[in-house]
Amino acid sequence: MSERFVRVARCDELRKGGGIQRTIGDREVGLFKLGNAVCAIDGICPHVGGPLGDGIVENGKVYCPLHGWPFDLRTGQCETNPNAKVDCFETKVEDGNMFVRFPK
Ligand code: FES
Repeated sequence: MSERFVRVARCDELRKGGGIQRTIGDREVGLFKLGNAVCAIDGICPHVGGPLGDGIVENGKVYCPLHGWPFDLRTGQCETNPNAKVDCFETKVEDGNMFVRFPK
């Protein structure tokens, strides 16, 4: 499968304690700062579509802003529903910009 890195944000746009939601092509993604790392996950909650990038971040998890399901930012796994998981994407930082690798 062919993949590509896409610039998605400036690192200084990422906020502590929360994420940002972006539309990249036909995808919604949630972008987060986790310590010194940056994370990107599918931005659509599998419950009923809450924007995960607008959620609150605590202890490496984002809590969906609609009903509070917690998703691990490194694995995408929901902690309260074992059948719910979102995609996680590889990220990198260059010159203060955040890039995400999406499958084409
Ligand atoms: S839409 Fe995310 S927990 Fe309900």
